[in-house]
Amino acid sequence: MRRARALALASALLGLPAWAADRPAALQVPDTLAQRLQPCMACHGAQGRAGREGYLPRIAGKPAGYLYQQLLHLRDGRRQNATMARLLAQQTDAYLREMAGYFAVLDLPHAPVPVVTAPPAVLARGQALALQGDAGQRLPACSACHGNRLSGVQPAVPGLLGLPRDYLIAQLGAWQTQQRHAQAPDCMAQIAQRLSPADLGAVATWLAAQPVPTQPQADATAPGPAPMPCGSVDQPPP
Ligand code: HEC
Ligand code: HEC
Repeated sequence: MRRARALALASALLGLPAWAADRPAALQVPDTLAQRLQPCMACHGAQGRAGREGYLPRIAGKPAGYLYQQLLHLRDGRRQNATMARLLAQQTDAYLREMAGYFAVLDLPHAPVPVVTAPPAVLARGQALALQGDAGQRLPACSACHGNRLSGVQPAVPGLLGLPRDYLIAQLGAWQTQQRHAQAPDCMAQIAQRLSPADLGAVATWLAAQPVPTQPQADATAPGPAPMPCGSVDQPPP
């Protein structure tokens, strides 16, 4: 049953009739974008839907503008990951835009929420930061930009749910240590720098423990005026 569905999906992605997937030996696999992006799935999960264990970010269903900017940053060294940089080194902007578009429209189920064990006070602090912010630390609520449901906002703000805790911690840490940059003004760098180590851990832990809403797609519009300017939001759409 599972296998039949997987084959049907594979053939749909490859643009083949369903029966053809059962006869791979006789098959001339066409050069489709889906096929050329197979190497990405090795790390990012089948069709880019990596789960919440481990480190790898899911890319399926993220806003296209966000994905495109990340591919440019990873290729050009504003965001550092040696594997991604090597994979993208020879690729044109136009092809990166195509890749971003391919993964952005995939609408696939999310993995179940992992069991996260943390003291209630840590989770409460994480929730308060995510949904209310902390004026004393000049921290706006994460939801002010990432959407009331934290599912992201089109076209350039990613959702914060469904990601592994280690990945969230690493990204906020990378902004603190200037290993990750977004378009200036880089609001996330400022926000990360205002997070104490305890607050960084608390917000990442709380986010990683939340279920993904049943409608996980990014919202069409921001919940209100941006609390700080973010250069990546003002980029022309891909
Ligand atoms: C060998 C494993 C590997 C392969 C293969 C790989 N990636 Fe990645 N990718 C990663 C890792 C690890 C990160 C996180 C980097 C970091 O820590 O910032 C990442 C990050 C990304 C991001 C940023 C995600 C986000 O939420 O900000 C995008 C987009 C992406 N990869 C797209 C691709 C595409 C498209 C391909 C195929 C051309 C690909 N990756 C192949 C390992 C891989
Ligand atoms: C002023 C608006 C704003 C606020 C407030 C904000 N963010 Fe962001 N965030 C962004 C934007 C814009 C991006 C995309 C940056 C880029 O293009 O790399 C982003 C990206 C991220 C990412 C990267 C996701 C990925 O898939 O790699 C993480 C993690 C993140 N934000 C966490 C947070 C947390 C935690 C908070 C609250 C403490 C927060 N953000 C508050 C605007 C904001």
